Amino acid sequence: MFLTEYNRIMKKVEKALKQFLEEKSKELDNPFLSHFYNEIEKFLFSGGKRIRPILMLLSSAAINPNIDEDGIIRASLSLELLHNASLIHDDIMDNAETRRGVAAFHKTFENYSKMNYDDEIQNPEDFGVAMGILGGDFLYNVAYNAIHINVFPPEKVLQASLEFNKGFFKVVRGVIIETDFMGKLLISEKEYMEMVAGKTAALFEVATKMGAILAGAQDSQLEGLENFAKSAGIAFQIVDDIIGTFGDAKKTGKPTDSDLKEGKKTLLLIKTLENADKYQKDLLTKIVGNRDSNPEEVEQVKNIMVETGALDYSRSQAKILFEDCVKYLNNINPPLDEKYKNFLIEIAKMGIQREK
Ligand code: IPE
Ligand code: IPE
Ligand code: MG
Repeated sequence: MFLTEYNRIMKKVEKALKQFLEEKSKELDNPFLSHFYNEIEKFLFSGGKRIRPILMLLSSAAINPNIDEDGIIRASLSLELLHNASLIHDDIMDNAETRRGVAAFHKTFENYSKMNYDDEIQNPEDFGVAMGILGGDFLYNVAYNAIHINVFPPEKVLQASLEFNKGFFKVVRGVIIETDFMGKLLISEKEYMEMVAGKTAALFEVATKMGAILAGAQDSQLEGLENFAKSAGIAFQIVDDIIGTFGDAKKTGKPTDSDLKEGKKTLLLIKTLENADKYQKDLLTKIVGNRDSNPEEVEQVKNIMVETGALDYSRSQAKILFEDCVKYLNNINPPLDEKYKNFLIEIAKMGIQREK
């Protein structure tokens, strides 16, 4: 039942996204701009789960089951566009080769440069990075556009747009903190929580709040949904990091050694370092953050993650956060629509049980 509903909304989101992009494409009226635009569209349709727009729609329906679904979906594109913009920039910062199983956005332009320009005149890597920065900028810009629709009262649209702005700020804040962590080995769990509350959970919060605001929610309901989304978002990221290292690269669409080589400060790694003995710690210090680590070394780190109990710990933290989500939703007053409340629980559950 939930999956049918998820797929139904997902199809509608994708249809609306196509339509929205078609409107925008009219402004891109020269051959390179068209090519750029095609790459943007390919990236947007390379297989995202659309969890943020779906979360927004379910939140609005949990407040008012008779909400104008098309209107909410149109406004929710802002979240999908912002999210994809942040992924394009993230892949530049993380030096990622792939995203969703295909070349990262900036890598497609690196290849474009190799095919179309002389390497002596245009450095392909530089070109890729430049186009990636612009790809993200383009999507950030159109994201704002999507919120402003006239099917909801203007004061509600303004309020939703302010939430969007605040959420965007929190995401950037989280990524700045994370980037600072890159050069450090020892990060506390508390620091990690603050960072992911920004880079990941903030957009989940915005999704629920924008949906609820446009549906006319009361402040007490907004607060409950925000708490729900924060826990769901943090759990989603903890699991993202687990499947990033222990999952199936074919499903996640990115290599399972990149987080380790990159030195990404995941809860998994933080707990491993905390629990490691001297010998394990020395090994971790040598391997984590070293781009030249070989597959055996990466495997060694994974074993330490299991032996120290860090993997189990991370899984259990995600589960605890999921249980918090359920409590938050059940305590909302006035209560949410029962059917959509249960869908919200399912979406949070999907976040921690997923393989991609
Ligand atoms: C990936 O987000 C980045 C994180 C914040 C963990 P998603 O897992 O929602 O990415 P797509 O859009 O479905 O590919
Ligand atoms: C992406 O975070 C979050 C943002 C872009 C804000 P991650 O770096 O953890 O996500 P993946 O692993 O690349 O999908
Ligand atoms: Mg990344």
